[in-house]
Amino acid sequence: MASRIYAVIAGVGPGTGAAVARRFAAAYPVVLLARRAESYDTLVKEINESGGSAMGIATDVANADSVKAAFQTIDEKFGKDASCASAIFNASGKLALKPFLELTEAEFENPYNVNCKGGFYFSQAVLPRLLKGTTQTELKYPPTLLFTGATASLKSSAKFSSFAVAKFATRALAQSLAREFGPRGVHVGHVVIDGVIDLPSSKEYLKDAGPDAKIDPASPLLALPARWHGSSPTLCCYLGDNTLKVDGQKTLIDACIDEGDPRYMASDWSIEFRKLKLCEHPAKDLMKHVQAYLEAKEKDCKIKGVHVLNGAFIEVAFASFLGSVDADATVFGYYGDDTVPLEMATYAGAARYLSEVAVDPSANGFVNGEKVPVQD
Ligand SMILES: NC(=O)c1ccc[n+]([C@@H]2O[C@H](COP(=O)([O-])OP(=O)(O)OC[C@H]3O[C@@H](n4cnc5c(N)ncnc54)[C@H](OP(=O)(O)O)[C@@H]3O)[C@@H](O)[C@H]2O)c1
Repeated sequence: MASRIYAVIAGVGPGTGAAVARRFAAAYPVVLLARRAESYDTLVKEINESGGSAMGIATDVANADSVKAAFQTIDEKFGKDASCASAIFNASGKLALKPFLELTEAEFENPYNVNCKGGFYFSQAVLPRLLKGTTQTELKYPPTLLFTGATASLKSSAKFSSFAVAKFATRALAQSLAREFGPRGVHVGHVVIDGVIDLPSSKEYLKDAGPDAKIDPASPLLALPARWHGSSPTLCCYLGDNTLKVDGQKTLIDACIDEGDPRYMASDWSIEFRKLKLCEHPAKDLMKHVQAYLEAKEKDCKIKGVHVLNGAFIEVAFASFLGSVDADATVFGYYGDDTVPLEMATYAGAARYLSEVAVDPSANGFVNGEKVPVQD
């Protein structure tokens, strides 16, 4: 491995770890860490045989000496001056799904040791190597440290106490590191995977809940944490009164500027509103105010505004209270004739475009979203 740039994934298995490793392997040599070689061996072989470059190192992230030894091996392979382009902390302790009064100290400690102490050891080892990348001109994106979270990172359900405590703590660690290292050029993020991945280890969960109840390990969704590398937009979904939509967004834009976020995706996702004059369509005035605020800030600050223009949301436009559809008579009427491009979008389509734009750092300004002619 002659490259002086690499990505490292701590906690590689058949789920998120493998998905992220495959995606990073398209851009960098990857180093895969897990306690057992069998967790990464097949993947290392697959990546190396398909033109990428991968190495596995047997590592226990909950053990300080083991993490130190892993990074010594990395330095020996890539050189002491090599930079880490991206690091993902993906290891997670055991989920002891038990009533609290039956939980043993060892069961409580296990996720704490892997997620919290492991996150600490890994971050302390990798951050100096990520900081090296901030001056590295070969890097396309800012160096990134990402943590994978779960629903339990935000919500602590009954019987989840040991796991959720550790997952909350990992999120806290990520948040603190983001505040400290963001201004120094390292993007730190925490990505919540809100669902159950269909893995041998989770075959008992939701087993009678139908084919879509779990996330397919082959789903591109699982590589999403890797796509966050190099992109840290703030995506606003405010829907509310004028104060929230205008003043609330201005507050959020100011917060983004303070945090050094490079892009702000405004909550418009709207049909084309730029040609409208103020007061011509009061609902769009809000977007014009936010656009003007962003444009003013773009002149003095590093923030870039992003506006995704979709068609009219079909779920709203076809709602019976608007009168364009009479469901009983199965009649649809709309204004204009075939020469008027009345363009529609769906919530699902808009969400697809928004997520694509969110992970593409080069998508700025006005971007076309889903626009389907109403006849279609
Ligand atoms: N699985 C799900 O349904 C699900 C759902 C939502 C969120 N998540 C989150 O997604 C992330 C990844 O989960 P995943 O299930 O997709 O896992 P995965 O990527 O399939 O595998 C994770 C790997 O971490 C390794 N690991 C565990 N403890 C370790 C330690 N102390 N040191 C080094 N490596 C260790 C394990 O290999 P070894 O045993 O060989 O060490 C395991 O194969 C976690 O943050 C998890 O909380 C998972």
